[in-house]
Order: sequence, then C-alpha cells, then structure tokens
Amino acid sequence: MIVKNPKFEISAVSEKQYPKGKLPEIVLVGKSNVGKSSFVNTMLNRKSLARTSNTPGKTRQINFYNIDEKFYFVDLPGYGFSKMSKQEKVISGKYIEEYLNKRENISLIILVLDIRHNPTEDDFLMFDYILKTNLPFIVLTNKADKIAVTKVDTEVERIKKSLGISYSTILPFSAERKIYIDEVWNEVEKYLKL
Ligand code: GTP
Ligand code: MG
Repeated sequence: MIVKNPKFEISAVSEKQYPKGKLPEIVLVGKSNVGKSSFVNTMLNRKSLARTSNTPGKTRQINFYNIDEKFYFVDLPGYGFSKMSKQEKVISGKYIEEYLNKRENISLIILVLDIRHNPTEDDFLMFDYILKTNLPFIVLTNKADKIAVTKVDTEVERIKKSLGISYSTILPFSAERKIYIDEVWNEVEKYLKL
C-alpha cells in the first residue's frame, strides 16, 4: 500500500464526534503501552503522527487517522493501565465499548499483544468481547524486536494456543524495528475493498 497523505482527523469521546461518511475503519485495540499508536506511525512511515509514550495511558480518546480518504486507522485508548484512576478506567472502557458496539464502519479489529508475554486477564476479556461482536479480527504480537528472531515463530504459536485460535490470523510485528510491515499491509488490505 502506498500511503500519500495520512492525516489526523479527530479525537472523539462520543459517537456524535465520529467522522461522517462510510469509509472503512481498521481499529487498534490492546492494553496500554503495547504499541497501538506506534503501530499507526510505523505503518504510515511517520514518526509522530500518532502520539506515543513510554508512560502507559497516552491515548485517552478515540483517534481517527484519515488515510488518503480511503480508510481510517482508529487508535483506541489502551486498557489495563494500573495507574489510571478507577473513574478513568470506567471512562476509557466506555469509549471502547461504545465504539466497538455501535460503529458500523468497522472493517477489521487488530488486537495488539506483546509477543513476550501470555495474554493478560484483560486481554482475554477483550478477546472474548471481540469474538462476541462477530467482526473480523487479526492478532498482532508486537515488540518482536525484544526477542531473538529464531524465537518469533514459537512465541506466536504459544500465544495462538493460549487464545485457542486455530483458524485466525496472528502475525508478529515490531513497530520499533519496522519489520513485518509488508505482511501486515497484505493482511489489512484484504479487509479494505478499495
Ligand atoms: P496507550 O496509548 O497507553 O494505550 O499505549 P499504546 O498502545 O498506544 O503504546 P505506544 O505506541 O504509545 O507505545 C508505548 C511504548 O512502547 C513506547 O515507548 C514505544 O516506543 C514502545 N514500543 C512500541 N512498539 C514497540 C516495539 O515494537 N518494540 C519496542 N521495543 N518498543 C515498542
Ligand atoms: Mg496510544
């Protein structure tokens, strides 16, 4: 995919603010600090279009990135951030749920996990939630640069087993090292009827 002019469009906190129109949406979900915003930057080859931070809880709203008027990357707030106040957790949980429940434009959900770890309790809850929506999804295991290249396949298999998904797509990724981008674009493009 050749991306020419990706733009940040809006940070939404409610349905009313979501972009109008029918462009397909590719949505990033995952725990805080796993690299959802970094994924957006890496895929678009931009350094800081999406704001990232090594302090978890950077993305607090629903950020829509308009990709050449063809589709949106939708960067959701992360979950499972222990330092968030109870109220903040409830609020960001509400944003995520409202978006996933009501938005008709969703073409693909990308669940981002950390390749080094087993999915957390929150990841399992989110995964069940995704299954219940019946929307298409893939799983990305990010931060592959943190492990030896020779271990990548084994770790991906381990996560696949723990989620109990034999037929679904699960791919490694590294937003940091910018590897596996072509594989992920190939997959994403399948869900964009461009
Ligand atoms: P929230 O906005 O809090 O939900 O987090 P996020 O999922 O958007 O994470 P973000 O992209 O802000 O990245 C969090 C931290 O992880 C940053 O310090 C990134 O530089 C780092 N990071 C992201 N992807 C990778 C990766 O593939 N490898 C390594 N080593 N670090 C990464
Ligand atoms: Mg973020």
